Amino acid sequence: MHVILIAGGWSDEREVSLSGAKKIHSALEELGHTVTFFDPADDFKSLLTIAKEADFAFINLHGTPGEDGLIQAILDKADCPYQGAGPAASYLALNKAASKEVFEDRGIKTPDWQLVTPVQGVATPLELELPVFVKPNKGGSSLGMSLVKRAEDFPAALEKVFAMCQSALVESFIPGVELTCGILGDDPLPLIMIKPRSDSEFFDYANKYAEDGAEEICPAPVDEELSDSIQAQMVVAHNALGLTGYSRGDFMVTKDGEAYLLEVNTLPGMTPTSLLPQAAGHVGFSFTELIGELIRLGLE
Ligand code: DAL
Ligand code: MG
Repeated sequence: MHVILIAGGWSDEREVSLSGAKKIHSALEELGHTVTFFDPADDFKSLLTIAKEADFAFINLHGTPGEDGLIQAILDKADCPYQGAGPAASYLALNKAASKEVFEDRGIKTPDWQLVTPVQGVATPLELELPVFVKPNKGGSSLGMSLVKRAEDFPAALEKVFAMCQSALVESFIPGVELTCGILGDDPLPLIMIKPRSDSEFFDYANKYAEDGAEEICPAPVDEELSDSIQAQMVVAHNALGLTGYSRGDFMVTKDGEAYLLEVNTLPGMTPTSLLPQAAGHVGFSFTELIGELIRLGLE
């Protein structure tokens, strides 16, 4: 097939996208496909034309554009199939606050939250107990995120997010361990437990992408009941957001085994240190086989 590999873009996660794209490019060639690389940051205008000529598009963009559904909408217009979620579901899932409303509606716990818009501004009173995380409402890879422990640091954390031109999601800090659950097709993958480096308070950008950034244990050493419950919640969240093909949800779990869903990623990272490929590997998919499977699902 002629596959366009769409990566790069102009979000802060551009380097993450390009890193994953290198591996995906090799995998697509190994699968015998002819690959055209397309970076919307270089040439946004010709996507519709190029997509019309391709048999499939593999999207490896993070943030906007890509996870917001724009690229998917253009590909739909061009009748070009692609992997993962469609435009509307992507748009919903990238919005952390809107997703949390969906989780709450389905009875899935999510940390208490407050959305602060740039119009409300940095003087907005904090409605939650400290500590809190402050992060871009539509972002990823922990970029622009602060852990706020003192009330006087709250305005600066909001300012940091607004400098990225986004509304800020303020979220209660849940003490515990981070567990991530991927979905491939209709089924949940084994959980991964993430242990950030000891000198870091959360799974930040450096932890995520440095080779020795964090210890990631798959399958996560948790009891079967908790594992089953998180996997079941992830399937509900994936379906409630209207996602297809694959996704990855990030949970915080307290020492009492209470799981809180933070967010669901519709184009999970595919870098050498990324989580979903590790979980898929555990159930027997090499990286190349995973790419093949995502294409198969996208063509269904
Ligand atoms: N946003 C990054 C790429 C992830 O969730 O994997
Ligand atoms: Mg994310």
